[in-house]
Amino acid sequence: MTSPQHWFDEGRFGLFVHFGLYAIPARHEWSMTWERRTPEDYERYAEVFDPDRFDAREIARRAREAGMRYAVLTTKHHEGFCLFDSALTDYTSVTSCGRDLMAEWTEALRAEGLRVGIYHSLIDWHHPDFTIDSNHPLRDAADREQRNASRDMARYRAYLHGQVRELLTNYGTIDYLFFDFTYPGTDGKGPEDWDSEALLTMVRELQPDIVVNDRLGIPGDLVTPEQYQPAAPMTDASGDRVRWEACQTTNGSWGYDRDNQDFKSADLLLRMLVDSVATNGNMLLNIGPDGRGGLRREDVDALAEIARWMELHEASVHGAGPADGLEAPQGTILTRSGERLYVHLATWPMQHLHLRGLAGRVRFARLLHDGSEVRFRTIDPEQKAQNMTVGGIGADVVTFTLPIRRPDVLLPVLEIRLQDAEETAADGTEE
Ligand code: GLC
Repeated sequence: MTSPQHWFDEGRFGLFVHFGLYAIPARHEWSMTWERRTPEDYERYAEVFDPDRFDAREIARRAREAGMRYAVLTTKHHEGFCLFDSALTDYTSVTSCGRDLMAEWTEALRAEGLRVGIYHSLIDWHHPDFTIDSNHPLRDAADREQRNASRDMARYRAYLHGQVRELLTNYGTIDYLFFDFTYPGTDGKGPEDWDSEALLTMVRELQPDIVVNDRLGIPGDLVTPEQYQPAAPMTDASGDRVRWEACQTTNGSWGYDRDNQDFKSADLLLRMLVDSVATNGNMLLNIGPDGRGGLRREDVDALAEIARWMELHEASVHGAGPADGLEAPQGTILTRSGERLYVHLATWPMQHLHLRGLAGRVRFARLLHDGSEVRFRTIDPEQKAQNMTVGGIGADVVTFTLPIRRPDVLLPVLEIRLQDAEETAADGTEE
């Protein structure tokens, strides 16, 4: 029987979409608090919110083409504005522009065969009962203490739980939930502020197969490194591997940030994805639609380049994982799926690629993009290097002969079919 998280583990790649009122000031999704805007002042964006170019179907199609298997929309970010219909507030897209973007989202994803994900902020800088803490836009207000005296986190908690119930009740099956975030400490918020245990229990009751992250401040189904790549498979305190997903931006900002030009190249984004698979993780890649809900040219281009690569190379990502026990030669990233080993050649070698640990284990090798055979041999470990003779490369090494010209793809992949131990035993032959 497959586990409820199986689709997530084998999918490896998802799309994150940060969209909200912050796309209008276009200065990062934290601008409300960075600029210490009062809720009354910031609320005016809700009056002019008009996402005429927000097209969930287009986003879902681009995600699917890029090889993403799930996508995650911000139902509410820290600013408090909701993209779904809520009986608990009028601060929603439905009130502002007559559109339930969450309904559009779920329908579009399902139509494209993607798993449905949502992000929901635990933090709420708009709600009148959310106490003013170190991250809050009103943190420097002269009457902060007075204001806090009338704020009641118990009422906010009821609102938070109520909205999560709405999201998990009114929109059919939700496959994935990204809560964000807990920052314990004297001037922060901890699991007791959200009543994380009860919240998580409710989530699992409403959506038994859902995958939930760890940002309630209590363990969830995965851990969430943000804007960095783990150097090795992540483990828990006892050393066991844990499920993880790196969330990454295209330019350092999650929400639309007009003047930020710090874009990662498609090639770098792709290497980050492959690197995640090689270290047993997923990657959730974000885009931030603009003030009209349209996609940024740079984001569209990056997704399209990744899509072109995925069309030919998805086998090295979907259903793949680390190549345990094998050492990646310099400039390469290794992933493995069953008996297939994938060598991603981030730098193109001059003719020879030497892979240690494979002597007698290779059945066939090819370039993945065009299926063309790559010849290989085992060089006598005793052979000394001499003039034009390759040698001195050690024992248990297989040498692959690559074409001089690097294939014209974003990241060339050598696929090696292994004769692995189980198979050898099954057909009764010795290695
Ligand atoms: C954060 C940020 C945020 C972003 C998120 C994505 O903790 O507060 O703006 O939504 O992580 O992982």
